[in-house]
Amino acid sequence: MINIEENKNLKPLNTFGIAASARYFCSISSVDELIELQQSVIYKTHKRLLLGGGSNVLFCKDFDGLVVQCNLKGIHLVRESDEHVTIQVASGEVWHHLVMHCVKNNWGGIENLSLIPGSTGAAPIQNIGAYGVEVKDVIDTVQCIDLLSGDEHVFSNQQCKFGYRESVFKHEWKEKFFISSVTLTLTKKNHRINTQYGAIADTLRQMNVSIPTIQAVSDAVISIRRSKLPDPSVIGNAGSFFKNPSIMLDHYQSLQKNNPTIPNYPSVNQEVKVPAGWLIEQCGWKGKKFGEVGVHAQQALVLVNYGNAKGEEIFSLACSIIESVKEKFGIILTPEVNIIA
Ligand code: FAD
Ligand code: EPU
Repeated sequence: MINIEENKNLKPLNTFGIAASARYFCSISSVDELIELQQSVIYKTHKRLLLGGGSNVLFCKDFDGLVVQCNLKGIHLVRESDEHVTIQVASGEVWHHLVMHCVKNNWGGIENLSLIPGSTGAAPIQNIGAYGVEVKDVIDTVQCIDLLSGDEHVFSNQQCKFGYRESVFKHEWKEKFFISSVTLTLTKKNHRINTQYGAIADTLRQMNVSIPTIQAVSDAVISIRRSKLPDPSVIGNAGSFFKNPSIMLDHYQSLQKNNPTIPNYPSVNQEVKVPAGWLIEQCGWKGKKFGEVGVHAQQALVLVNYGNAKGEEIFSLACSIIESVKEKFGIILTPEVNIIA
C-alpha cells in the first residue's frame, strides 16, 4: 500500500545535505507500488522526480511536485557457468553493498567501483565510472517501467548508448522511464584485474600485495577514495560536480605552451580529455570557502556544503567556476550533477 507524504524534508535524502522540501513524496518498494502510484491523481497532475540515494542531485529550490524514491530490493541469480555469473539487481539496492556482496562471492568486474554512493538503479543513468572501469562494462540489460503507460521494457547494453558519464536516459529517454532493475554479468574466475589507473598499483604495493585479488583491488580503491573524497555524512557533496572536458588536440597543444604541466587522460581520435580538477585548481579555487559553501581542499572538482548552504549558493559558486575556467583556458565545464531548478 503506497503512502504519499506532504511537505517532505529532503535534507537527509540528498548527499549535498540541502534543506529543500518536496510538496509530495512517495517511497516505493515494488513495481506494483509504482503502478498503484501511477493511478493516483497526484501522480497524474504533478511533475515528478525519481530519486535514488540523492548523491548526484542539487536541489536549487523546493520541489513543487512528487518525488518518487526508489526502494526496490533484491539480488537474483539469473544464470551461472564455471566462468560467469549473471545477476539481476533491484534498482533500490545500495550500489556499494552490491559491490561488497560481489567481492565477498569472488565475482569480478565491479571492484574498481567500490564506495561509489547511490543506488544500483541510478548507475546506468550516468554510466558510473572510477579507476578505469565503467558500469557499462558489466551491464547486460536494464529493466524499465514507462512512467506514463506503466509498460515494462528491457533494454540491451547497446540500446542504452553508454558513454563517459552518459547514457540514453540522460537524453532521448530523459524522465521517460523508471529503472526497476539492472542485469550484470561478472566473472567467477580469470578476473580482469584492473590496476592500471591512478594510484591503485602504488597503493597495492604499500599494502604489500604482489598478486592482487578483487578483494585487494576493492580495498585499495576504498583507501584512495577515502583519502581524497569528502564523506557526505560529514561534509555535504555530490562527488565530482563537473565532468572532465574533452578538447581538440590543437587547443590542448596551444594550452601546453603556457602550461607545460597540464595533465591529460589518454586521447580518443583528435580529442584530449583534461582533468577538470586541475583546471579549477589553476584558477585558484581549491580549498576556498565562501560562507557555507566551498571547493574541497583535497579535490577541486568537488563542491561542498559546510552545513547550511542553500542549493542556489552551490549553483552560484559552480557558475563562477565555469566563468573563470572559460576565461583562463577557453574551456566550458559542464556539470555532472543533476541540477533540480
Ligand atoms: P540520485 O542522485 O538519486 O539520482 C541521479 C539521477 O538519476 C537523477 O536524475 C534521478 O532522477 C535519476 N534516477 C535515480 N534513480 C532512478 C531510477 N531508479 N530510475 C530512473 N532514474 C533514476 N559517480 C561516478 O560515476 N563515479 C564516482 O567515482 C563517483 N563518486 C562519488 C563520490 C561521492 C562522495 C559522491 C557523493 C558521489 C559520487 N558519484 C560518483 C556520483 C553518484 O554517486 C552517482 O551518480 C550515483 O549513480 C548516483 O546514484 P543515486 O542513487 O544517488 O542517484
Ligand atoms: N587534479 C588536480 N587538482 C585537483 C584534482 C585533480 O590537479 O584538485 C588532477 C591531477 O592531475 C590528478 C587528475 O586531476 O592526477 C585526476 O584526478 P583524480 O584521479 O582525482 O580523478 P578526477 O578526474 O578528478 C575522476 C572522476 C571521479 C572518479 C575518479 C577516479 C569525473 C568527473 N570524475 O575524477 O568520479 O572517482 O576519476 O576514477 O570523471 C564522480 O563522478 O562523482 C567522481 C568522483
